[in-house]
Amino acid sequence: MIERDGQLKSLWQQGVQPYTTLHTAIENQSYDVIVVGGGITGLSTALLLQEAGKKCLVLEAKNLCFGTTGGTTAHLNTLLDTPYTEIEKKFSKETSREMATAAAAALDLVKRNIEQYNISCGFAEASACLFAQNSKQQKELEEIAHASAAAGLQVELTTDAPPPFRAVKTLRAMGQAKFHPVNYVYGLAKAFESLGGVILQQCQVTDVQNKDGVICTTGKGNFIGRDLIYATHIPPGINLLHLRCAPYRTYAMAVKLEDGQSFNDLVYDMEDPYHYYRSQIIDGTEYLIAGGKDHKTGQEENPAYRFTSLEATVRSHFKFKDIACKWSSQYFESTDGLPYIGHLPGHAEHIYTATGFGGNGMTYSHLAARLLADILLENENPLIKVLSPARIKPVAGFTNFITHNADAVRNFAGKLFSGEKLQELAGIAPGEGKIVQYDGEKIGLVRDKDGQLHAVKPVCTHLQCEVKWNGAEQSWECPCHGARYNCEGKVITGPAVQPLEKIDLGSKSIKPQTAT
Ligand code: FES
Repeated sequence: MIERDGQLKSLWQQGVQPYTTLHTAIENQSYDVIVVGGGITGLSTALLLQEAGKKCLVLEAKNLCFGTTGGTTAHLNTLLDTPYTEIEKKFSKETSREMATAAAAALDLVKRNIEQYNISCGFAEASACLFAQNSKQQKELEEIAHASAAAGLQVELTTDAPPPFRAVKTLRAMGQAKFHPVNYVYGLAKAFESLGGVILQQCQVTDVQNKDGVICTTGKGNFIGRDLIYATHIPPGINLLHLRCAPYRTYAMAVKLEDGQSFNDLVYDMEDPYHYYRSQIIDGTEYLIAGGKDHKTGQEENPAYRFTSLEATVRSHFKFKDIACKWSSQYFESTDGLPYIGHLPGHAEHIYTATGFGGNGMTYSHLAARLLADILLENENPLIKVLSPARIKPVAGFTNFITHNADAVRNFAGKLFSGEKLQELAGIAPGEGKIVQYDGEKIGLVRDKDGQLHAVKPVCTHLQCEVKWNGAEQSWECPCHGARYNCEGKVITGPAVQPLEKIDLGSKSIKPQTAT
């Protein structure tokens, strides 16, 4: 089974083995484009560029689909999470039309990839149904329907609810789809390699030097590129995008329906946060995939409650016995509701990124692939300016932001703690974690599943925010920009690159040491 950035197993990990690459990279080799990140954005972009004659290298720190691609619920939709009403209001009617056109082109690109490279990934077309349950929601729904139609979507308003839900009004958008995201990305990877592209897994980029192009330092040697694309969900290091993207957690579960119930559409209610539903047939079995109960990362003390609450919501609509699997994953919301795709602010001009996809990662990954390919190939695209990360104006007080919290966290160096006392203080069961106050200092303690206690300084190494323990996914999570660490403090996902400071509990005197 492939690994993912969480302890819980998603539906897409079941029975899927790690991808085996065809090629090995040669150290100091030069490439036209280096793509950092082996998820759906990285592979779809690399494939388009390789097709266009660029020589591309994909560097993935873990295994393909380790990040959010392995934990998505994979809705392919042009009915975007940021409604067209809002895009019209915050941007313009023209931008609304351009976004709808680009989202439709993104879905066409998925279809083209599947057909051209014969990718077996359970792709099926479906409608998206957004339904209102009261008059307030109905009014909003009618406005969304109007703006969606004006943007170019094929939509209809009906009084029929998508079964088994009840609704006063439903917006049905045609031309949406669903698929198995990991099988799809494996298909992209195969196609990319067949065209001469190179993928390196377990190959973390530890440094990027700008010279005439870039020199990427990795555990497998240095690689040289003319252009570099961070397809890492959020770019690593410190930049303005961390101020303009907020991390959120969402919860999902897959169940086998009883009584011959079947479910084809992509369905969304209008609660806040909303719930989403769709199905997928895997090896002849149909699973209902439901999700929701979102919250800002690090702001839920008890993630298990979110799963219980989601299960109760799903059971109020569907009959099923067991939950086949449940998992959570992370996404980033941009400040203005549209993704940031293009040149990475504050970096050399040949460094690009794509982030802030909200709940539309499957669609925006391909929109980003097209847009980044157009930028690098010097093609025109009306969204280059609209989605440019440079649309962010410099933020007053940015320097203060970088140092915020830093003063609040005193250095642990030289402090001595009694291991026995700490263990008494902790009183935590296997799998649990908490922050304890000891001798005026905060210490992050976790007892792993084998009973071993781990202690870290609970301060994110990105910009010094305090991390929180997520017992469901067994990770320390940073509420500021979404960095995640395992129980030992090692980085699971960026933007942090350095591990949490580890505190040795092996002796009576506990001195700080660096995790490796
Ligand atoms: Fe930025 Fe933690 S991810 S402070």
